[in-house]
Amino acid sequence: MKSSTLALLSSAGIASAALQVDLSSADSIKQAASQVAWDLLQYYKGNQSGATPGILPGPPPAGDYYWWQAGAMWGTLVDYWHYTGDTAYNKLSSDSMIFQAGAPQNSYMPPNWTASLGNDDQGFWGLSAMLAAEVGFPNPPPDQPQWLALAQAVFNTQAAPDRHDDTCNGGLRWQIPNYNVGYDYKNAISNGIFFNLGARLARYTGNQTYADIATKTWNWVTGVGLMDSAWNVYDGGHVQVNCTDIFKAQFSYNAAIFLQGAAFMYNFTNGSDVWKERTQGLVDRTVEVFFHNGPAVEVSCELQNSIQCKTDMLSFKGYLHRWMAQTTQVAPFTHEKIMATLQKSTAAAVKSCQGGPNGRQCGFRWTTGQFDGLLGAGQQMNALAALSSLLVDQAGIKPPLTNSTGGTSQGNPNAGQTATDVFHHPPPTTGDKAGASILTILILGGIMSSFVWMSTGLSEKGM
Ligand SMILES: *[C@@H]1O[C@H](CO)[C@@H](O)[C@H](O)[C@H]1NC(C)=O
Ligand SMILES: *[C@@H]1O[C@H](CO)[C@@H](O)[C@H](O)[C@H]1NC(C)=O
Ligand SMILES: *[C@@H]1O[C@H](CO)[C@@H](O)[C@H](O)[C@H]1NC(C)=O
Ligand SMILES: *[C@@H]1O[C@H](CO)[C@@H](O)[C@H](O)[C@H]1NC(C)=O
Ligand SMILES: *[C@@H]1O[C@H](CO)[C@@H](O)[C@H](O)[C@H]1NC(C)=O
Ligand SMILES: *[C@@H]1O[C@H](CO)[C@@H](O)[C@H](O)[C@H]1NC(C)=O
Ligand SMILES: *[C@@H]1O[C@H](CO)[C@@H](O)[C@H](O)[C@H]1NC(C)=O
Repeated sequence: MKSSTLALLSSAGIASAALQVDLSSADSIKQAASQVAWDLLQYYKGNQSGATPGILPGPPPAGDYYWWQAGAMWGTLVDYWHYTGDTAYNKLSSDSMIFQAGAPQNSYMPPNWTASLGNDDQGFWGLSAMLAAEVGFPNPPPDQPQWLALAQAVFNTQAAPDRHDDTCNGGLRWQIPNYNVGYDYKNAISNGIFFNLGARLARYTGNQTYADIATKTWNWVTGVGLMDSAWNVYDGGHVQVNCTDIFKAQFSYNAAIFLQGAAFMYNFTNGSDVWKERTQGLVDRTVEVFFHNGPAVEVSCELQNSIQCKTDMLSFKGYLHRWMAQTTQVAPFTHEKIMATLQKSTAAAVKSCQGGPNGRQCGFRWTTGQFDGLLGAGQQMNALAALSSLLVDQAGIKPPLTNSTGGTSQGNPNAGQTATDVFHHPPPTTGDKAGASILTILILGGIMSSFVWMSTGLSEKGM
């Protein structure tokens, strides 16, 4: 069905079912968020008989979603619980994050998903585990992997020498197995998550080593030009040319992962000038690039006349909102600017929620005040993130915990150090491999065409 037809149907037939919310009322936000969460979970089939627990339908071609996106969804639901107190999805989230941990090493590298296992894919699950520790999400039974140890396992496997080499002067590659398409690309999100986890582990545990590694990663990212002196964060570069071909598309999650990490470094250093300047620079530039007169816009693929965003990219706005909201807790000087921005963007997001069979599912484009006909788990996650993040200032919502301010998650500084070496696994089956290369072809194809637009679009606006 054409999207225009869908939009017409929704506005003609069941527009009265559109999501209703009064953003000045916490109760109203909670009510709306619970509806958006329920609609999100309709995309989850992992609890049906015969299905694999913990994942969204996929990876392509078996379904729309790569493994990492479910990891991001459980994190979105951990935040949802933290901000609203609604425990409805806690057991599902907890069971899923444990089932996919990749026993017995429990470093989020389950053999099933090796064919599309990037450092960023593994990292997204690690971020959700880190968040669970920080918000005091109920601890798993003692014989199961624990949140902090899971985050440490992801960090440790990424800090290990076998993930690093001298091409481009250092940094993490995108893919982990050397036979995956994309192994030759060093990108912002992989290094951004590694930096972000280091900053948060430093603050949670008080262990300076994590902060030192995070700082080293930051220095590499700025040195190689993935972040420039005007705080633009670019996507990646190829090792064959020593990363001199920096691909300058800007995605909101790349900016936000560094912003949130910088805020944690600011907090860990008790408010150092250097991390304050970096946090402020990233706040200002992120708002400038991604929030156009209010609503969040995924500028590199959300074009004026067409949406070029792939399934992955359709979910980035949610991380943008969540990571900016948490930034305000650890770097309170950013609070006024960030919350004013998130308020306006959320008001616009909600207006897109007038689609789907029940007339209240959310679309991707937030700038039109209408539903754009694009339904999906990412779009629901975005709206859920936007709504629940607005509750960050409610009484009783604690800033991220540490192990000396109420955090109870059990860690293990050596977690993940016996992880299976996926480099030595036999190459995946043809079906799996096709999935991974389709991802790359789609991403590179989509980005390349939209990047042409972006350069022109930005120069037209005089940016
Ligand atoms: C799966 O979980 C969803 C969300 O909690 C729920 O709505 C659905 O009924 C569950 N399905 C089964 C088969 O348990
Ligand atoms: C891996 O795939 C097998 C076969 O589909 C499935 O039974 C198992 O639950 C999967 N494990 C994980 C962690 O996804
Ligand atoms: C917090 O973790 C660090 C590093 O693991 C440890 O040295 C310290 O004793 C812990 N503090 C508390 C209060 O548990
Ligand atoms: C601090 O973290 C490093 C890096 O993971 C680890 O090797 C070391 O054992 C940790 N120290 C403590 C006291 O936990
Ligand atoms: C690769 O780039 C780095 C800067 O990112 C530079 O320090 C290094 O000398 C370059 N190496 C080669 C072989 O050109
Ligand atoms: C931050 O302040 C705490 C408490 O005064 C102190 O223990 C810690 O060493 C300081 N950290 C840094 C990086 O200055
Ligand atoms: C660090 O975060 C805490 C909240 O956990 C906050 O109270 C404190 O003001 C922050 N520190 C700085 C220097 O902003």
